[in-house]
Order: sequence, then C-alpha cells, then structure tokens
Amino acid sequence: MNKKTVFKLSAGGRLQGRLRVPGDKSISHRSVMFASLAEGRSRISGFLNGEDCLSTMKAFRAMGAEVQIDAPDRLRIDGVGLYGLKAPGQALDLGNSGTSMRLMAGLMSGQRFGSVLSGDASLSRRPMRRVVDPLRRMGAQIETAESGTAPLSIGPANHLHGIRYESPVSSAQVKSCLLLAGLYAEGETVVVEPAPSRDHSERMLQVFGVDVKARPGSAGLRGGQSLHASDIRVPADISSAAFFLVAAAIVPGSELILTDVGINPTRTGVIEILRRMGADIEVLEPREFGSEPVADLRVRGVGLSGVEIGAELVASAIDEFPALFIAAACAHGETVISGAEELRVKESDRIQAMVDGLRVLGVDAEARADGACIAGVGAEGQLGGGRIDSLGDHRVAMSFAVAALRASAPIVIDDCANVDTSFPGFAELAAGAGLPITVDHGHD
Ligand code: S3P
Repeated sequence: MNKKTVFKLSAGGRLQGRLRVPGDKSISHRSVMFASLAEGRSRISGFLNGEDCLSTMKAFRAMGAEVQIDAPDRLRIDGVGLYGLKAPGQALDLGNSGTSMRLMAGLMSGQRFGSVLSGDASLSRRPMRRVVDPLRRMGAQIETAESGTAPLSIGPANHLHGIRYESPVSSAQVKSCLLLAGLYAEGETVVVEPAPSRDHSERMLQVFGVDVKARPGSAGLRGGQSLHASDIRVPADISSAAFFLVAAAIVPGSELILTDVGINPTRTGVIEILRRMGADIEVLEPREFGSEPVADLRVRGVGLSGVEIGAELVASAIDEFPALFIAAACAHGETVISGAEELRVKESDRIQAMVDGLRVLGVDAEARADGACIAGVGAEGQLGGGRIDSLGDHRVAMSFAVAALRASAPIVIDDCANVDTSFPGFAELAAGAGLPITVDHGHD
C-alpha cells in the first residue's frame, strides 16, 4: 500500500447539491458471498467497487465462483452451490477487510478443504478469537497466530454441529460468521447478542431462500439449507453518507440531498445522534430495494449542541463515530461518548486516532477507555489547522477532510490510500459538493 497518499484541504467552505455515495459495503460483501454459494445466476447492481469488496470477490473467484464484472457497480455471478467451492491454490489475501475475514472464517470452517486467510498489517492486528472460539465449539479446526490474530489456518471440516452462542460483543461479523458456519452444521445455530447488530445477513439469506429466524438481538438457522440465486440492488452506504451528513450539518447554510441511502434501522444511529444534536435531517421518499429500506436524506446546516451518547446507540452507529467526533468538535458544549470500546479494535484505535487528531486542531478532547469527552467550539468558533495522521484508517481520513470546512487554516492528512477500501471516488464527489481535496499520491 502507498502510505504516502496525502489529502490537502484548504480551510472553510459550504456544501450544496444532490449526490449518491457508493454502494453499501456490508451488503456488497454479502451479495458476493451468498450469490457465490447459491445455485444459479445472480445479478448485483449498486455494488461497491472498493478494495474491501474486491478482496471478497477475488477470494470467491479463487474458489471457482464465476464473477463477471458487467460495469464497475454491476456483477453477474454464477454460483457454485453450498458444496461447490474448490480449494484455492494459495492463501486468500483479504487486504484491509475485517468483514471478509470474519465472515469467511465461518464459511471456510464448513468446507471439505483447508484454507489460509491473511490480511494487511491493520487486519493482522485485529482480534479474531471472537470468531475462532465459537467456531471451535462448533467443531471447526482453526488456528490463529499466538496473539489471536490473522493469519487464520482452517482445516478441512470434519463435522460441525450447531450451537447456541451468547456473544459477549454486539457484532454482525461474529453473528454472520456463525450463521455461515451454521449452514454447514448439523442442527440449529443460534446467536444472541447484548444489543442488536446490523441484520443484513439475515435479510439477504432470506432473499436467497434460507429460513432464518431473526429477532432484534438474535438470529438462528438450521444447517443444510441451499441458497437460490437472486438479484440484489445495493443501497448507497449510510456509513459513507455519514461524512456528508456531518459535513453539511456543521456548516450553517449548507444543504445536501443524499439519494438512495440505506436506512435499515440497525444502521441509522447516526441520524438519531445528529438529530439529538439538533441537526436538520429529513428522510424523503422511504422505499425498498429488495429486503432493505432506503430513502433520500436531506440535511441542512444549523447549529449543533453537544450530547451524551451511551451504549444503547453504539451498535447502530459503530462505523460513524469518527464522523460524529467531528460533529461533536463543532457543536456547542460537551459531547460524552461511552460504551464504545469496540472503536478501539477497528481499522485503527479510532478513539485514540480521533482524539489525537482533534487535539492537533486545537480541540479540547479526552480519550477514555470506552469513549471520549469532546468540548465543541460551537457554531461561532473554529477548529485550527494542522497535519494529521489517519493511521491508514479510511474513516479517520475522511472525517478530518470534513473537519476542514470549519477550520481556520489548511489541514493535511497523511496515509489516505485506504479511503479506496470503502469509498472510491470520495475526493471527486466531495469536490463536486463544495469540499475540494487535493490528493497527492507521493511515491513509495
Ligand atoms: C460489519 C460489521 C461491523 C462494522 C464493519 C462491517 C459487517 O463490525 O464495523 O465495518 O459488514 O458485518 P462488527 O460487527 O464487528 O461491529
């Protein structure tokens, strides 16, 4: 990876317009996985053509799924059936993508051949015991590095059996991993979570004909059910829309319409939190793309106020916290975030990365074990400028790009190449809406 990709932003600006952010990352991953396991041809539209989803696509191609790219966001997949995957010739490199690794750990545990799942430096630091421990209880042969991290070595499946697993963390990746292993297990696999995580797997498995018992906070299925091909229309990613929701919300006078945004209720914490802060966000023309609700979102800039964000809102806004730290920094008064310790094990330690970056911009922010306390500058105040290390974390990079709208001096952000993992074309789309970013690719 080129660590030297740098974003340079001048201070100030205001956003206007109507735009569609790229497809939902979680739904795009699942569309490739489930269509590859299905019998027949599936067509995917609105697919996120970002590095993470391409890692999933390459892995399934390496195992014999026929994936045709009809356009960057349109795929045609001829599935191989539940038992049709072939041993890949080499380790499957999943790059920066935690979703690929955790979901595929479950899937590969059910195969009759062994496999190795590896990733980049960031993914190789992330905790994998959360999936490995319950998979072993189901009978999987799976080894990690000593620190409980990737690479994962998975032996050929002997005999998996369903379990009822009470997960200590709310994680759609853990839940989906176990459901995928559960397709190959004898009996029923049930996952119960402390708070409901995103339910895209449950919804999409049902679209592919699997009988899934899903309730908020739990999901289960019986093994041996086959998947039937289906066409999937992927909504725009609310996690990518979040940068623009915050960007417009922090600049009075801005107005944006974001189209086709997925508003699955397990993902809409960012709207709820921004509204509590006083943001003006309207949900227009709610409709459905298959089993997923979507809408256009209109956001207008008004003054925001600090709020307390507790554990009950964390799961449904988990990927939006970096952007919400910027909203908090621009709000009037203090924002206190708690119950969000999961942020420490994302693509970077997002609590530390965001607090360190905000301090560079002169904001009074303090990191806590499970969150942070941020003193906002208010509608009349300004952030400073400076040089920020994104630590190679796409969402940290995009959040500080948005912060420039309220800065008094330019902001330079290092290590931004991974923005392409979730949001290819971010700089161009942002520029079109009024946030010009100079991207300097440097040299390795
Ligand atoms: C994802 C689930 C979330 C999220 C990640 C994508 C998914 O992770 O942070 O970006 O697609 O299942 P956890 O489930 O581990 O919280």
